[in-house]
Amino acid sequence: MKTTSQRYDNLADDIYSHLVEVITGRYRKNADRSIRDVYQLNEDFLHMEEDVIHFVFTYQREIAAILENPDLFANLARLFILSTLEFMYANNQFIRIDSDEEAHLERIYTTYLKDMHKALLENHEYEPLRARFEELIHSHFLDLRGNLARFFDPNVRDETDSSIFKQVVCREYSPVFQLEILGMHLDHIRPPVLDLGCGKTGRLVGYLRSKGIDAHGVDRIVNHADALTAGDWLEYAVAPAAWGTIISHMAFSNHFIYQHYYKNGKPEDYARQYMAILSGLEPGGSFFYSPGLPFIEALLPNGQFNVLRHSISESNSQGRGGALYSTQVVRR
Ligand SMILES: C[S@@+](CC[C@H](N)C(=O)[O-])C[C@H]1O[C@@H](n2cnc3c(N)ncnc32)[C@H](O)[C@@H]1O
Repeated sequence: MKTTSQRYDNLADDIYSHLVEVITGRYRKNADRSIRDVYQLNEDFLHMEEDVIHFVFTYQREIAAILENPDLFANLARLFILSTLEFMYANNQFIRIDSDEEAHLERIYTTYLKDMHKALLENHEYEPLRARFEELIHSHFLDLRGNLARFFDPNVRDETDSSIFKQVVCREYSPVFQLEILGMHLDHIRPPVLDLGCGKTGRLVGYLRSKGIDAHGVDRIVNHADALTAGDWLEYAVAPAAWGTIISHMAFSNHFIYQHYYKNGKPEDYARQYMAILSGLEPGGSFFYSPGLPFIEALLPNGQFNVLRHSISESNSQGRGGALYSTQVVRR
């Protein structure tokens, strides 16, 4: 027989789980929407479903109590931030939210949750509560819209032409395909291995580990797993001479190329980290990446590095076209 306090704990857990489901459900429902839709305050984002407002009204006190618990408050803020990052990256993989930008998002979501808490304490009738929540959502989206302005390209006549509104999707590839494109053979891989931009699930890392190879991955968003670390590759401190192999398939070099050609890009940040990655190799270790980086490979000192190229056949380039190749830089 459960005590009253156990029953209360179970109810609080259920309400918390349902809140998580409501939040993730809203992101799922709007997953096909674009960043432009956010900027234009699309109605679908602003509308609050009847069953959601009904749930909030029914469990008003319990939800307020959840928001008064600092750990649960922080978890919900984190859920909002991660879901927003995933939404933005899924729209345009070249958007970069560094730790400073993430701090802006944290402020926005902290305000949002605090305002919700206040609304729950102050509105005890159904209609006023609904109206207050709809106002809150509206002003939250105005905050998000204002935040987007920091990503606008300087000197564009129409801000909606900014590159942040371009849709550049990103996909993850099978481990065998990645190894083939990179010209790598399982038997010759020198451990330990670091996969930069390994994807959320770290498919190649998991595959290499299943073959007994000590492999680790870094990506800006990763599922919880021992060998995977969440982090920005430009902020990742690559330990000197620590890795036998570093891999980055359709990831670091692809973004480096984008920054190199984009007129407001920051290729120097990528060039600096590229050299740090090469210093992270043990003597004899290799950095394998695709696509190749002709503009920087040509500058590498020959006495320290050997650059090998592996051409990517038309059938493997998956319609990307052009003279594509992948690169292996060996540290001498
Ligand atoms: C096209 S996917 C390739 C993933 C994986 N390497 C593969 O081939 O399946 C590019 C990956 O780079 C990651 N990425 C992009 N910018 C990043 C950054 N600044 N720091 C860490 N990872 C980043 C993305 O999250 C994405 O998982």
